[in-house]
Amino acid sequence: MNNVYDNQEFFEQYQSMREDKINANNLIENPIMISMLPDVKGKTILDLGCGDGNMDIRFIKMGAKSVLATDISCNMIEEAKKVNGDKNIEYKVLRMEDISNINQKFDIVYSSLAFHYIEDFDKLLNDIYNLLNPNGYLIYSQESPINTTFEPTKENSESKMIINGKFYYLFADYNREGVRHLIWNDVDVTKYHRTYATIVNSLVKNKFKIIEMKDSYASEEAIKLCPKYVRQIDKPYFTFVLAQK
Ligand SMILES: C[S@@+](CC[C@H](N)C(=O)[O-])C[C@H]1O[C@@H](n2cnc3c(N)ncnc32)[C@H](O)[C@@H]1O
Repeated sequence: MNNVYDNQEFFEQYQSMREDKINANNLIENPIMISMLPDVKGKTILDLGCGDGNMDIRFIKMGAKSVLATDISCNMIEEAKKVNGDKNIEYKVLRMEDISNINQKFDIVYSSLAFHYIEDFDKLLNDIYNLLNPNGYLIYSQESPINTTFEPTKENSESKMIINGKFYYLFADYNREGVRHLIWNDVDVTKYHRTYATIVNSLVKNKFKIIEMKDSYASEEAIKLCPKYVRQIDKPYFTFVLAQK
C-alpha cells in the first residue's frame, strides 16, 4: 500500500497536470468511461479512489441520488470537499482495502485509474460484490496490462523502435505478475501488474457478469489537441471493464 498523493510535492504536480485540460484523463480515459457508464439517474454510487471528486459532482448533475466518494489520500478528499462539494456527496478518507467496513449498498461501484494500486484484486472484487445491490454494476478503468508489464527505467523509457514510419514497442515480463515501481514526479510509485487473463478470471471467480471491456483509443478531436495520442492505436494506455452482479 502506498499513498503518494499525500506527498505534498507529488500532489501539487499531479493536480497541475490535471488542471492543464490537455491530459489523458480528460481526453482519453474520461470519455470512454462516460461511453460505458450505466444510467445513473436515481442511483446510489460508490466511487473508489475518487481523487478530487470531478466525476462525483458530474454523477449528481446527471441525476444520481447520492454518492459516497472515497480515497486513501487526505489531500484528495480535502480538495474534493473544497472544489466538488454537494449535499448529496459524502467524501471520506478510506482505503479500498477497507471497504468491507462500509455499511451501505450501492447500485453502481465506479473507479477511475485506481485499481492498479491494489495488490489483492480478488479481495477487492469480493468486497465490491458484497456492496452491490442485486444487478448492480461495477465500472472501472485501470492502466492497461500492456503498460504495466515492465518497469520503466532511464534505459528503457524510450522503449520504441520506428521502422518504415511504424512504431514498435518493447515488451517484457508480461507473465510475471505483481509489484512494479515507477518513478513519477520524482516519487517511487508502487503499482501492480496483472495479465488480462487474471483480470477476466478474477471477475468471473467473483461472480461478476462481464458486459463490456475496452482498450483505450483516442478520438480525432483528442488527437488534434494532443497529436501523440495517435499512438493509442499501437499501445493503449488504459483498460476498461463494465460488469454486473
Ligand atoms: C490517478 S488518481 C485518479 C483519481 C480520480 N479517480 C480521477 O480519475 O480523477 C488515483 C487515485 O487513487 C487513489 N488511491 C490509490 N491507492 C488507493 C487505495 N489503496 N485506496 C483508496 N484510494 C487509493 C489515489 O489517492 C488517487 O486519488
